[in-house]
Amino acid sequence: MRYLTIALTKGRLASKTLALLEEIGITCEEMKDKNTRKLIFVNEELKLKFFLAKGPDVPTYVEYGAADIGVVGRDTILEEGRKLYEVMDLGFGKCRMCICGPQTAKPLLETNQLIRVATKYPNIAKDYFYNKKHQTVEIIKLNGSIELAPIVGLSEVICDIVETGSTLRENGLSVLEEVCPLSARMVVNQVSMKMESDRISDLIQKLKKVIKEA
Ligand code: PRP
Repeated sequence: MRYLTIALTKGRLASKTLALLEEIGITCEEMKDKNTRKLIFVNEELKLKFFLAKGPDVPTYVEYGAADIGVVGRDTILEEGRKLYEVMDLGFGKCRMCICGPQTAKPLLETNQLIRVATKYPNIAKDYFYNKKHQTVEIIKLNGSIELAPIVGLSEVICDIVETGSTLRENGLSVLEEVCPLSARMVVNQVSMKMESDRISDLIQKLKKVIKEA
């Protein structure tokens, strides 16, 4: 039996994924050591390998088959547009992709003005404004703290993730439009899905069962 390799998104998504996997009897003790500098972890008994990667890299590893399976946010899947199968919603990491800004920007959206949109997700923003809203905008790519952009006058609005809404509230911004709901998803390499269909389907069925019972 060959190893199945699973790529996890570093941080909270990885911890939640590992907790979920534990519920179906898949553990990886070496991964729990917070001080380890190891990059790849093995469960010899189950012939599984795990590694942690930055979110945007997870779909890349999965598309190329360096990982058979990945766990990543839907925001990243949409943004990266990689060729892979999205097989299940894991039900955690729930949040929304939204267009946000000061209330004064609302009429600019309603009347399809040529505005600037700051975002970490240029492809999602382009798809929303160009294909869904048919509004011409200028997209400005940023790498973090997106809420700063309308405050300092870089853009009129932002396209960003809203979870609790507290970052927006504390900065005098609001959700002006909703783009789509988000959560953690399991993705599978297209060849692995065929070659390892029994093991992967079994994993999906078990996970679906514990998620349903939760
Ligand atoms: C994300 C997102 C928002 C914030 C939303 O940023 O970009 O800024 O979380 O969460 P809230 O609605 O619960 O306040 P993250 O903390 O991932 O960091 P970043 O700003 O570097 O992208």
